[in-house]
Amino acid sequence: MARKPIESFAEAQRLAKRKMPKAVYTALISGNEKGSTIRQNPAAFERIGWLPRVARETREEQPLVRETATTALGMKLSMPVLPGPAGAQAIHPEAEVAVAKAAKEAGTAIGLSSFATKPMEEVAAANPNWMYQLYWTGTRDDILWRLERAKRAGSKALIVTLDATGGGLGRRDWGSPSIPNQVDLKAVFRFAPLAASRPAWILKFLAKGGIPDLGVPNSRSNPDREPAFAEVYAELMSTPVPTWADVEWLREVWDGPLVVKGLMRGEEAKRAVDAGADAIVVSNHGGNNLDSSYASIRVLPAVARAVQGQAEVWFDGGIRRGMDVAKALALGADIVLVGRLWIFGLAAGGQQGVHDMLEMVRDGLHWSLVGLGHRSFKDLSPDDIVAPDGFFFDPDTKTRLEDLELRRSRG
Ligand SMILES: Cc1cc2nc3c(=O)[nH]c(=O)nc-3n(C[C@H](O)[C@H](O)[C@H](O)COP(=O)(O)O)c2cc1C
Repeated sequence: MARKPIESFAEAQRLAKRKMPKAVYTALISGNEKGSTIRQNPAAFERIGWLPRVARETREEQPLVRETATTALGMKLSMPVLPGPAGAQAIHPEAEVAVAKAAKEAGTAIGLSSFATKPMEEVAAANPNWMYQLYWTGTRDDILWRLERAKRAGSKALIVTLDATGGGLGRRDWGSPSIPNQVDLKAVFRFAPLAASRPAWILKFLAKGGIPDLGVPNSRSNPDREPAFAEVYAELMSTPVPTWADVEWLREVWDGPLVVKGLMRGEEAKRAVDAGADAIVVSNHGGNNLDSSYASIRVLPAVARAVQGQAEVWFDGGIRRGMDVAKALALGADIVLVGRLWIFGLAAGGQQGVHDMLEMVRDGLHWSLVGLGHRSFKDLSPDDIVAPDGFFFDPDTKTRLEDLELRRSRG
């Protein structure tokens, strides 16, 4: 019998909840503090409406297949969507390798977290279009060692994440236990009730030869030792945020494309471009950084305008279906990253689950283009959109955005 695909984010989330121990699930749905931003990011998309078009002048304007192929920093993609970097500890034994394979099958790339479970070389073998994401931890020498390794493994770009560092996170009250430094006897006893609550979940790991992996192979600073997640996480929270001089230094030592992730202000996006960024990611870390950060989609038009086509504009935060992708593209994004969408797809169904989420997004983007009468995703523009007055906001001038006229650099 043919497999029934997972058809929506809600279904993936439901399945994930059923399959995973409560504490692991809670860690995935958690935002920071009260979770205000994690709710606002997807809710903002619901307040943006379309103005559909129906008949066009010629049939050629309404082809059966709409154009979604594009490039991101020179990589050829079948659609302007890719799984962004997220540490996927203990979600699924195949972890980021499954995500990389699903992305390759869908004709797209992935961002690979510093905190990923799988070594970058394994991910690279599964999908050559991958990009190493760096958190600023350790000394410059430590970072250099990681960058050289990423270069050798063929990373197509370097993503440096500037938000959610230096204590910006501070999760509270979500009810997930702190992650142990190593899986010793004490940790096994502490996590035993958690594992016993979902035996099938732990069996999946045992079948692959082990318990959930808490090492972070891509945060190594030398060949001799793989740090534990809790260790690098504590280091991240206690390391000062990198300076613009550090970003300029990265530009000097990394000779491929540079992506600066986690920006919400046009002035900082411009600063990143001046420091040599080839792409910036408008993002509030999916609500996992400063709680009450404004919904990222609401500042996207202003930040995209500030960049003035001098770098690719990437976006993430709250994408739950293909139509959300179309809205972000209409508002100035060149590339849209998904976070929880692939995370829950992976938790719900491994590689197939991620595949289903990516195809669901592709379909939704396609149907948005059909409903709006566009041949290509490049035709999407603010002209397709209505939103409440003052809904879009320019964080630099502190004014509402009335004129959504945007200039973009699409090839
Ligand atoms: C569980 C989890 C782990 C994450 N880990 C990372 C990470 O290691 N590096 C990073 O740059 N962003 C990380 N992010 C942020 C995502 O890259 C992305 O900005 C966010 O998930 C987008 O919002 P969405 O989940 O609503 O799509 C993480 C997000 C989640 C939910």
